[in-house]
Amino acid sequence: MLKNFYVSTPIYYVNDKPHIGHGYTSIAADFFARFNRLAGREAFFLTGTDEHGTKVANAAEAKGMDPRTFCDGVVTHFVEAWKSLGVDYNYFVRTTDARHEKAIQKLLTVLNEAKTPDGRDAIYPGVYEGLYCTGCEKFLTEGEIVDGNCSIHKTPAQHLTERNYFFRLEPYLPIIKEKVENNELVILPDERRREVLGLLRMGLPDFSISRESVTWGIKLPFDPSQVAYVWVDALPNYISAIGYGDDPEMFEKWWANAEVVHLMAKDILKFHCLYWPAMLMAAGLKCPDKIFIHGYATVNGEKMGKSAGNQIDPHRMTEIYGVDATRYLLLNQYPFGADGDIKETEFVARYNSDLANDLGNLVSRVAKMINQYCHGRIPEPRANVVGKKEMMSMAEDLPDEVFDHVRNFRITDAISSTWNMIRATNRFLENAAPWKLAKEGDMEAVGGVLYTAAELVRVVTILLYPIMPEKMREVRKIFGLDDSTLTLDSARTWFDLPHGNMVTFKTSVFPRLDADKVPSLVAPPREPETETVDEIGLVTYDHFAKMRLRVAEVISAEKVKGADKLLRLQIDLGSEKRQIVAGIAQHYAPEIIVGKKIVVVANLEPATIRGIESRGMLLAAQKDGQLTLVTVDKDIPAGASVS
Ligand code: MSP
Repeated sequence: MLKNFYVSTPIYYVNDKPHIGHGYTSIAADFFARFNRLAGREAFFLTGTDEHGTKVANAAEAKGMDPRTFCDGVVTHFVEAWKSLGVDYNYFVRTTDARHEKAIQKLLTVLNEAKTPDGRDAIYPGVYEGLYCTGCEKFLTEGEIVDGNCSIHKTPAQHLTERNYFFRLEPYLPIIKEKVENNELVILPDERRREVLGLLRMGLPDFSISRESVTWGIKLPFDPSQVAYVWVDALPNYISAIGYGDDPEMFEKWWANAEVVHLMAKDILKFHCLYWPAMLMAAGLKCPDKIFIHGYATVNGEKMGKSAGNQIDPHRMTEIYGVDATRYLLLNQYPFGADGDIKETEFVARYNSDLANDLGNLVSRVAKMINQYCHGRIPEPRANVVGKKEMMSMAEDLPDEVFDHVRNFRITDAISSTWNMIRATNRFLENAAPWKLAKEGDMEAVGGVLYTAAELVRVVTILLYPIMPEKMREVRKIFGLDDSTLTLDSARTWFDLPHGNMVTFKTSVFPRLDADKVPSLVAPPREPETETVDEIGLVTYDHFAKMRLRVAEVISAEKVKGADKLLRLQIDLGSEKRQIVAGIAQHYAPEIIVGKKIVVVANLEPATIRGIESRGMLLAAQKDGQLTLVTVDKDIPAGASVS
């Protein structure tokens, strides 16, 4: 009996929207969870977002938002993206969840009391020295310093020292090395395992687990003047989400008694393969069983990035190709584990040859012929069908062959083994030629061939379900099959297709795409941004004139439930009434603000804040954290423009 299966993606930073690179890991995790469930295992699939730290706080500040409200907004993009990619997780963890915070504080307390294998304190206070950028509000890494300056702010990096707590890593390294060497901690692919062993040979310094200068984070329970370092906050999401802080039974089931698999790209190998196992050992917990590190995807040969303008939006890809084809095209473009290039020029050809031709045509042909020759019902199986024996023996071995690939993270091999059978089934039909048999009037033989072909299609729908869940359900419906036999056991069982089932075929499952009509995945390059701010901060009048500032009268105001900083305002803009959400609840009571004439930016992009649509932004002056509304000093009607 196989153990429960627990698979995770990294929790993604919310300083940016998700792109198809994040989608790649999430689809892969979804694929593994679904496949293992087919095989009869209980599976738990975790994903989520990493919301603390300076990076996120800065991104929020740049938008003039408090970090929590900002995170609430960006998280919805992740949730929506996973929905559009058919990523069906069991739990979505956010590091700002109260549950996660509680678990982190528990873990930090445990770590603070822990002793290393050689009897020293696992956590100790120390001093962090480094080059600091006040613009970034963080210590800079070597790569972030150019000629002594911060590479972003171009200001001199300052030598600073900060009081921090440290994790004593060194005593754990030989134990991790042993676990990696004897495959108690399996690191895949082998190239990454060698990389980890290389890092272990070099040795690594202790790492700091807290920050004094950062405020957006979880306070250390034993020293509230410090917050947990983002990685110390983030890595334990894998245990906080399954009950480490509050549900021992659940935690036991999905950590101690499960096969724990972490998926990620190579950018975060060190944290997962070294820091995380060491932290777990110090806390007296087992290490993950397997860490699979896949490659880094480029797009059309270039590194994916905001500035390169080549980030592929998951929604755009699913709009063009559909959710299942998107999953197939992404996971099947290069082997899982290798670096690869998302070549959109190959997508249409691949879609047409694999999905529209090989698979789509097979389904259409079989269903149409059953309609035409067998009164629309699955015919009875027959013994002597030409080529059936070979097909049956191929189908017999296939489910276990594919599951073996899946268990070893060989996604492209799992797909290509299944495709071999799809192509063989097409050849079987060509050879058996039921249309010829029908002409000869041998309808029993026709039925025998078509039963065999439909049976093979049924096996295919099971094996491809984890990669193309929607379409495979659609195909099963055509042949009168529901989800109750969507199991690997059923794929292993010949004659599991009940004869007499109604076949209802309407349109082809993967309609052909016309390469000339398929739009580009990469959003058209943005107009190069014209320099709008000169060196001393002057803007042109034309640029200022783009802002529509208007006088508005506040008609009503109420506090937003669960957000102590937000007010929901209904405002009158003269020609229209609107709703805006403003972060001023701690400065103005709702009854005070009603009736005031304020100034708003009327042409700001709408935003959803805490699930409430906000169309516009009010202006307020700020000093020492105090906000004062910008108002007009004579009576002027709502809607008047401000310039
Ligand atoms: N927040 C940390 C992870 C904490 S996990 C305890 C983080 N976040 S991230 O948003 O930067 O996500 C990195 C991960 O996103 C990669 O490890 C990978 O899973 C996925 N990818 C992002 N861009 C990618 C590519 N271009 N190619 C492949 N995967 C990519 O690091």
